[in-house]
Amino acid sequence: MIDLGCGPGLFLRDLGERYPQATLYGYDVTPAMVAYGQQLPCTGAKPTLTVHDVATQPLPHAPVTVHLLSMSSVLHVLDEPLPVLAEIRRVLAPGGLFMLHDWIRHPLQVYLEGRVERMGESRAEALRGGFRLFPVHNKYTTEDWQWLLGEAGLPIRSQTQLRPSHQIFVTTGC
Ligand SMILES: C[S@@+](CC[C@H](N)C(=O)[O-])C[C@H]1O[C@@H](n2cnc3c(N)ncnc32)[C@H](O)[C@@H]1O
Repeated sequence: MIDLGCGPGLFLRDLGERYPQATLYGYDVTPAMVAYGQQLPCTGAKPTLTVHDVATQPLPHAPVTVHLLSMSSVLHVLDEPLPVLAEIRRVLAPGGLFMLHDWIRHPLQVYLEGRVERMGESRAEALRGGFRLFPVHNKYTTEDWQWLLGEAGLPIRSQTQLRPSHQIFVTTGC
């Protein structure tokens, strides 16, 4: 199981508790995230966290070997998502799952209020940082993500929305 753009590896830590037999890899371009995650205690399978730029480097995994690949709030950041999705498709095992969890376009008012309610920012902070990040986080609609996944040959098996700002898509590799 792989988490791309894993940050400090908290999702992998939780996966390792539920699936102690799993082999877990996390990749992130920010060395401080990886260094912090490497020293966090974990009670399940210990993830291997590595500094890695998914936008410029192939994944260090053989084709069709990965059973679960997740990417949470990362793909919208990358200038060119399709080469990254092609790399994900290359490594997915038959029946392997790709779980994409990412921002979707939503109204400015809902976005700014969400920064206060869910991210704990003050109204002043939400207004200051929110206007800068609004275009970054509101890049793709749900339909845009559906189209991108289709273009990449990753058919959607399931999708759901747990909060107004994000959508979850579960796809297979073939
Ligand atoms: C918003 S954080 C999400 C972290 C984690 N996935 C989560 O949901 O908590 C985005 C992460 O993507 C990482 N990232 C951004 N560009 C990347 C790239 N080209 N390759 C690998 N990681 C990248 C950042 O360093 C950051 O840790």
